[in-house]
Amino acid sequence: MKGVILSGGKGTRLAPVTLDYPKQLLPVMGKPILFYTIEYLLEAGINEICIIVSPETGSLIESAVKKKNFPASFEFVYQAEPLGLAHAVGMSKGFIDEGDDFVVLLGDNLFDKKLKSLITTFKETDASSLVLLKEVDRPYAFGVVQFDSETGKAQKLVEKPKTFVSKYAIVGVYLFKYEIFNAIANLNPSARGELEITDAIAAQVDLGQNVQTSILDSFWYDTGTLPGLITSNTRLLIANKNFDNRGADVRDSYILGDVFIAEGSIVQNCNIMGPVYIGPNTVIKNSTIGPFTSISENTILEDVEIQQSLIMQNCHLEKTKIVSSFVYKDTKVKDHALVLDEIFKGNNLCKTY
Ligand code: TTP
Repeated sequence: MKGVILSGGKGTRLAPVTLDYPKQLLPVMGKPILFYTIEYLLEAGINEICIIVSPETGSLIESAVKKKNFPASFEFVYQAEPLGLAHAVGMSKGFIDEGDDFVVLLGDNLFDKKLKSLITTFKETDASSLVLLKEVDRPYAFGVVQFDSETGKAQKLVEKPKTFVSKYAIVGVYLFKYEIFNAIANLNPSARGELEITDAIAAQVDLGQNVQTSILDSFWYDTGTLPGLITSNTRLLIANKNFDNRGADVRDSYILGDVFIAEGSIVQNCNIMGPVYIGPNTVIKNSTIGPFTSISENTILEDVEIQQSLIMQNCHLEKTKIVSSFVYKDTKVKDHALVLDEIFKGNNLCKTY
């Protein structure tokens, strides 16, 4: 079993951050989102991984992954244009040998499900494909699947249905046999001009092939929007219980709940309300931080209040209140009474939600 992670795309919903930086490398709890997806594969024993990247940001992804020295071999495939998820999966054909099975993950999605159990179901049912499903409130916005609740076999798959078909939507976790490349080769572009992976799987369902489903009952987040990014940071902070602040220099401060402060970071005259993640070489003074906040390395915070936000590395924030917002790396923010649902980049407020 091999792994393919789709990390190209345009990332328009997180522009302007994504104009020159891949959303897959944005940190959640100090770690790039893509690294979580690589770890999902490693945990399932998959250590041959192909990452599909875009020409604009692919080299940043390549160097970040190589620098990390994961115990896996990587192949990076450049997709010249973001022509759709099925097109991106098709780009991995040279990496997959005939007869191989493979897992496909989206490089900007986080979820809480062990891939091992999906691989077992896939093998035991000898399925052509397996899709992970999640019950959603607005099925009309997704590709949804009707399936046999006893066997798990998909009966009908409809992309953005106009009338009710099922409340179970496809989330970005797929297991395929090599034959999926045949289905992809026969696709026509959708109304939005992309080759859709749901169309390839729907064609398999229509041909009566065994497409299996598995239900996700825990969290799944698309981090490709500001609310998605903030929510996944919140959920991961809540789920993580291994927090520790021994080794940090904490003076005259009140620390409540699950708080991680990296060794060597300085916290002085602050109130920190967990869950909170504070990365290395960070200095925080006279501030109130948390809950649900991640602060990456080499950042200085003075006289700030920050709640449910993500601050990237090398930032300097002063006399500012930040709620549900994202501050891109190397940014300086000073004297803002309130930053709410906003993205900061290059010392400018860039986007308000
Ligand atoms: P999306 O988030 O659906 O697409 P996008 O990245 O272009 O974002 P936006 O809609 O904001 O413009 O893509 C999901 C994942 O798949 C993401 O990691 C990017 C990747 N992807 C590719 O690798 N190639 C593609 O052609 C597309 C469309 C996405």
